[in-house]
Amino acid sequence: MKNENKNGCMWYDTDGNPIQAHAGMILCHKDTYYWYGQNMGGETDRRDTGLHRVDFIGFSCYSSTDCVHWKNEGLVLSACSEPGHPLHPDRVGERPKVLYNEQTRKFVLWFHLDSSDYFTAHAGVAVADSPTGPFRFIREISPNGYDCRDMTLFRDTDGKAYLIYSSDWNKTLRIAQLTDDFLDVNGVFSHAFPEQEREAPAIFTKNGVYYMITSGCTGWDPNNALFGTSKNIFSGWKLIGDPCTGENARQTYFGQSTYIFEKDGVHYLMLDHWKPDDLQMSGYSILPIQTEKGHLTIAFQEYTDL
Ligand code: GAL
Repeated sequence: MKNENKNGCMWYDTDGNPIQAHAGMILCHKDTYYWYGQNMGGETDRRDTGLHRVDFIGFSCYSSTDCVHWKNEGLVLSACSEPGHPLHPDRVGERPKVLYNEQTRKFVLWFHLDSSDYFTAHAGVAVADSPTGPFRFIREISPNGYDCRDMTLFRDTDGKAYLIYSSDWNKTLRIAQLTDDFLDVNGVFSHAFPEQEREAPAIFTKNGVYYMITSGCTGWDPNNALFGTSKNIFSGWKLIGDPCTGENARQTYFGQSTYIFEKDGVHYLMLDHWKPDDLQMSGYSILPIQTEKGHLTIAFQEYTDL
């Protein structure tokens, strides 16, 4: 079905309101798609330090049966105004990612949890019984003792799950295996792309090869995406090149990667198109990824068939 929302622009839900699900992901569960993301529907605070931010509001969920029409399911994890609370509005909560755990039958949410100056660099974990929440916040951690900023979750074909996060002040990506219940890291971890300063990781696997698309580190400003591949989740990662082709490829079409999901055998890359002066109006793209002989290519198109 042709998407009625135009790539690179703000997208609207079935009520006609702007979708507030930035730096998000799409989870397919029992024939329904759930889009989780940052709700940035507040004023952008432009700080003297150059940092543009919106107070933490929480994470939204939208549901859809076709991946085209999105119904607002509301906030599934909300900020808490209690002074000193880990989810206080003056903190940063970014890049929410959800996995379903078949053993516990729980939905587990991980996200980047930080202080407003981004110096704390932790991960947050929350859990829910239903895909539309509510999620219960359970912990704030430094995964395996390392700083954690941009991150994603990845569930491998064998059921094992991983947290992949920008670490060492964004110099290196770390790959940490989760416990069987997905609620913590289990101490088995490795890294990818040391000293390459990659962030916004999005990963998938096909025919025994892992592919990871990342952005460079330029805050809300676009830069060029790079993909890397490996035959092993923990080792052997090599940066290959820019998957984007055509006009504005070097700026990832003015977007930044956030997640790769699969629908009907096709992998799609989700992008955020940040508007640093009014972050709540940041747009989205969903673009198909072509995989051929270990190489990825992505082309921009205004409306994607999903
Ligand atoms: C980007 C990052 C975003 C957000 C932003 C803040 O580099 O990918 O998720 O943290 O910086 O400036």
